[in-house]
Amino acid sequence: MMRWIAVDGATDVAREASQRISAAASSAISQHGYFSLVLAGGSTPLTAYKLLAQSDLDCSAWRLYFGDERCLPADDPNRNSVMVAQTGLSEKAGEVFVMRAEWGAERAAENYRQIVDEAVPFDMVLLGMGEDGHTASLFPGHDENSASVFSVYDSPKPPAERVSLSTAALQNCREMLALIVGDAKSRSLRAWKAGADLPISRVCACRQCQVLYDRDLLEGKA
Ligand code: 6PG
Repeated sequence: MMRWIAVDGATDVAREASQRISAAASSAISQHGYFSLVLAGGSTPLTAYKLLAQSDLDCSAWRLYFGDERCLPADDPNRNSVMVAQTGLSEKAGEVFVMRAEWGAERAAENYRQIVDEAVPFDMVLLGMGEDGHTASLFPGHDENSASVFSVYDSPKPPAERVSLSTAALQNCREMLALIVGDAKSRSLRAWKAGADLPISRVCACRQCQVLYDRDLLEGKA
C-alpha cells in the first residue's frame, strides 16, 4: 500500500522530492536508457523543479510529460507548461511532451492520448493536491472518461476547460510521488488520511505511491 512521509515544511518537501526524482532518474536511465517523468501542475512542485534545473544533473535522457494542462494560449503564464519552463527544467530535459491545450480540450486530449499510450508505463508520476482533494484535473464529483487522456469542461478550479490524464494512466507508473504543501490543504489531507474517497486518494491507492507532506498539516495547527 502507499507510504506517508512527513517532512518539516515546504522547503524540505521540495528538497526531498528533488532527491527522490533524481534517484528515480538514475535508476531508470541505468535500466532502460531514459527517464519518463509526468510533471504535476500548479505551484507546489515548482521549487523542486528549480532545484533540479539548478543542479549539475545531466537530464538529457529525461522525457517530461504533463499530468494535466489548462486550456489557455501556449504562452499564457498560467499554463503548467509555461510555469515549468520558467523553472529552467524544460530546457534541461531531453524531450518535453507539452499538451497542445491551446487547440481546445477535445483535440488536445486526442493528440496526447497517443503520446501517453506509447509512453506508459511511466518511470515516475508527480502529483499535487488541491484544497478539495483534486489531483491533476480530476475533481470530486466529476466522472472520469475511460480514455487515458480526456477533456474537462467544468473544472471548479479555473480555467474550466482542461486536459487530464485519467486515474489509470497516472497509476501506470513504477513510482508515484504526491507533494502536499500549504495550510489550505490540511482539511483534505486529514480527510484523506481518515479514509475519505477523493480523487487524490483514488489515484494514490497503489503500492508504488509515496506521499510527501508537510508535517504541520496533520500534526500542527494548520
Ligand atoms: C492544475 C494542477 C492541479 C494542482 C493542484 C494543486 O493544473 O491546477 O494540475 O491539480 O496540482 O490544484 O495546486 P497548487 O500546487 O498550486 O496548490
